Amino acid sequence: MSPNRPLRVAIVGSGPSGIYAADLLSKAEVPASVDVFERLPAPFGLVRYGVAPDHPNIKQIMTTLAGILGRDGIRLLANVDVGTDITLDELRACYDAVVLATGSPHDAPLGIPGENLEGSYGSADFVAWYDGHPDGPRSWPMTAKEVAIVGAGNVALDLARILAKRPEDLAWTDIPDHVLAALQASPLTDIRIFARRGPAEVKFSPLELREIGKVSGVDVVVDDADLQFDEASIAAIESNRQTKQVVETLTSWASREATGAARRIHLHLLQRPVALLDDGAGGVAGIRTERMRLTGDGSVEGTGETREYPVQAVYRAIGYRGVPVEGLPFDDARGVVRNDAGRVVDETGAPVTGVYATGWIKRGPSGLIGHSKKDSQETVDRILEDAPNLIEAKGDLSADGLGPMLDDRGVRVIGWSDWLALDAHERALGEAQGRERVKVVSRFEMTDIALRRA
Ligand SMILES: Cc1cc2nc3c(=O)[nH]c(=O)nc-3n(C[C@H](O)[C@H](O)[C@H](O)COP(=O)(O)OP(=O)(O)OC[C@H]3O[C@@H](n4cnc5c(N)ncnc54)[C@H](O)[C@@H]3O)c2cc1C
Ligand SMILES: NC(=O)c1ccc[n+]([C@@H]2O[C@H](COP(=O)([O-])OP(=O)(O)OC[C@H]3O[C@@H](n4cnc5c(N)ncnc54)[C@H](OP(=O)(O)O)[C@@H]3O)[C@@H](O)[C@H]2O)c1
Repeated sequence: MSPNRPLRVAIVGSGPSGIYAADLLSKAEVPASVDVFERLPAPFGLVRYGVAPDHPNIKQIMTTLAGILGRDGIRLLANVDVGTDITLDELRACYDAVVLATGSPHDAPLGIPGENLEGSYGSADFVAWYDGHPDGPRSWPMTAKEVAIVGAGNVALDLARILAKRPEDLAWTDIPDHVLAALQASPLTDIRIFARRGPAEVKFSPLELREIGKVSGVDVVVDDADLQFDEASIAAIESNRQTKQVVETLTSWASREATGAARRIHLHLLQRPVALLDDGAGGVAGIRTERMRLTGDGSVEGTGETREYPVQAVYRAIGYRGVPVEGLPFDDARGVVRNDAGRVVDETGAPVTGVYATGWIKRGPSGLIGHSKKDSQETVDRILEDAPNLIEAKGDLSADGLGPMLDDRGVRVIGWSDWLALDAHERALGEAQGRERVKVVSRFEMTDIALRRA
């Protein structure tokens, strides 16, 4: 007979997908107790450390997520790295089910010559710097006058906006002061965004694209010759409202007179980067691109015609990759944990008992915060289907030894009330400056403040 106890679930990662999974489990018919492990001293994943500081409305989602994390039956254990502070096998021994919600933290590589030159950066590092990630860089070289951004998604637009905006237009946000100071010193004049496909194939959202046209002191430049369409693009424009809006915006910019603003964002379409050029001292001096042509079905092929642009920094915004979890099957080509609708499976397709995945580590690095809900619903449905077998297999289970074990290892666990103390501290710092919050960036300081040792 199955023991009469709640289902015990450990969720690894407190980004939106982990928190939505906790929400669904806590409201399920099967009684469940949920522990959410987070390697950072603060919860909310990319909502806190990815969403751009000048998008406070999107960051507001943290209020909803906090309402879930603070609920009875859900416990936060932040500042605990699964894999270092506690192993996956130890978690599997203590819980009926373990859900990986660890996201995709690393930049995908471009794979072109010159990619490793000084001045060639991944967007993940740059975002970690400007969003005050505790493990991110604390300084950033802001010496380039001309910058290239490779990729035509919303991350590319975030980077362009943060680089192009006047610091005084960011000062009201939660952007760290050292970031503002570095932006203040930036000599930047030109940002070149390179999209390898055409105007109907870029991945920009209409609202985010229009936003760069409203940045003070910036002209957006689109070359009329880049506005090329094939049969597939025309079909996409006719069938998809967002594609139509994006194309309309790009078209309107191609016919717009420049105002002579101090900074320019050039949107280059149908250009694939083929090499970063060396300045002779190991730094970036330029980018070589190849002109692409549409093939009729929405894809592109090279024309062999190349062009070089002088730039002193190149940012890759071409997508992200997940990190393999020790001992679990990983799909290296997609950068995700191998899974079948959320159940982690081995190379033969057989489930790894009691291990699940949700969010970007499950489906790959695309989709908005809201998309995590549906994703987590699918995974939670699989857990609930398996729940009777999982509980029976584990019998009487106690995870109460976990706290002392982490204590013995010197792990300074941050619980929900500790996070609330850090949250209140950041808000108070912000209030004094008329800002919503000022983020504490140092991991050590964050931990001390949360545990009231500061
Ligand atoms: C730069 C950027 C800006 C974005 N802006 C927007 C936006 O404005 N609007 C929007 O809708 N979407 C935006 N997105 C997309 C959105 O952030 C993602 O859809 C969403 O965050 C994915 O959620 P997730 O929970 O899968 O991953 P994440 O949010 O990455 O959460 C993963 C969590 O797992 C933790 N973790 C990882 N490994 C471990 C471990 N070993 N042990 C414990 N914890 C671990 C991480 O620290 C992190 O907190 C943006 C994405 C990026 C990259
Ligand atoms: N404000 C917001 O709402 C916001 C902000 C940031 C991020 N997000 C979301 O977060 C997710 C991730 O965004 P993202 O911008 O990282 O990814 P994305 O939307 O997938 O865009 C990646 C871009 O990089 C290009 N690319 C990939 N490999 C390339 C290569 N080798 N050479 C040249 N270009 C290459 C892609 O081109 P192809 O299309 O040709 O492959 C695409 O244009 C998205 O769902 C996005 O909407 C939302």
